Amino acid sequence: MQPHIQVKNLNVHYGRTHVLKDINLEILPQQITVIMGPSGCGKTTLLKTLNRFIELVDGTRVTGQILLDGQDIYSNDVDVTEVRKRIGLLAQRPQPLPMSIAANVAYGMQIHRMKSNRQEVRKSVQHYLEVAGLWEEVSHRLNDPATSLSTGQQQRLCLARGLAIEPEIILGDEPTSALDPISSQHIEKRLLTLKDTYTTIIVTHTLRQAKRLADQVIFMYLGEVIEAGPADAVFNHPKVERTQQYLAGLF
Ligand SMILES: Nc1ncnc2c1ncn2[C@@H]1O[C@H](COP(=O)(O)OP(=O)(O)OP(=O)(O)O)[C@@H](O)[C@H]1O
Ligand SMILES: [Mg+2]
Repeated sequence: MQPHIQVKNLNVHYGRTHVLKDINLEILPQQITVIMGPSGCGKTTLLKTLNRFIELVDGTRVTGQILLDGQDIYSNDVDVTEVRKRIGLLAQRPQPLPMSIAANVAYGMQIHRMKSNRQEVRKSVQHYLEVAGLWEEVSHRLNDPATSLSTGQQQRLCLARGLAIEPEIILGDEPTSALDPISSQHIEKRLLTLKDTYTTIIVTHTLRQAKRLADQVIFMYLGEVIEAGPADAVFNHPKVERTQQYLAGLF
């Protein structure tokens, strides 16, 4: 299988702090890759580097390559807006825009001029709310403010909004950590159904969640990738002692 993303000799500095150290990775399509590791090891930084959100932080320096279908997303001729359209990010806490439920989903489509008329927009809004598993709960109140939804519903709305701009890759930075168990289950179920269509990379602190979701696992420690591979191998036969200790709960 051709990797969708290849990370080569990636180093990231925040000012004088060296946060990501010589990262080399291959991310496969139509699989869920889970990134794990103790707090501060660089998981969020790695995700932000993958869709160039890192450039919004002052004083960062990125070296090395991130190839998306073989093309370096940091090369000069690449349009950063296009990169962020292809690689969507689902944040830790839902961040609905201060507008209606329907308008939240339509927002990105309008920005990127993806639909030509209102009826098409309306159809897509319904479609992506269905895909995110929220349609039945909100179909009768599409014009209500998005902030009137529960936190779990807001996170599914943000998923719908992200999918509506038709990304190829979904990044999730602890996307269920602000949610109750039932809402988390909703999101997990969606990620599992969506994985055939997208390349998915999820950061989680919950070992059980990682085991439920992961096809591939990346274990990081102090800015380095310590171990990466198929979930079964990393969870059941970790090769590196650090990974064994982490999985045993020794951190
Ligand atoms: N804007 C910044 N300026 C300076 N240092 C930063 C900045 N953002 C993060 N760092 C540092 O970079 C390192 C990696 O941070 P990062 O947020 O990527 O970790 P993480 O693995 O996501 O942790 P957590 O599990 O707590 O979310 C940490 O030491 C952090 O303090
Ligand atoms: Mg983080």
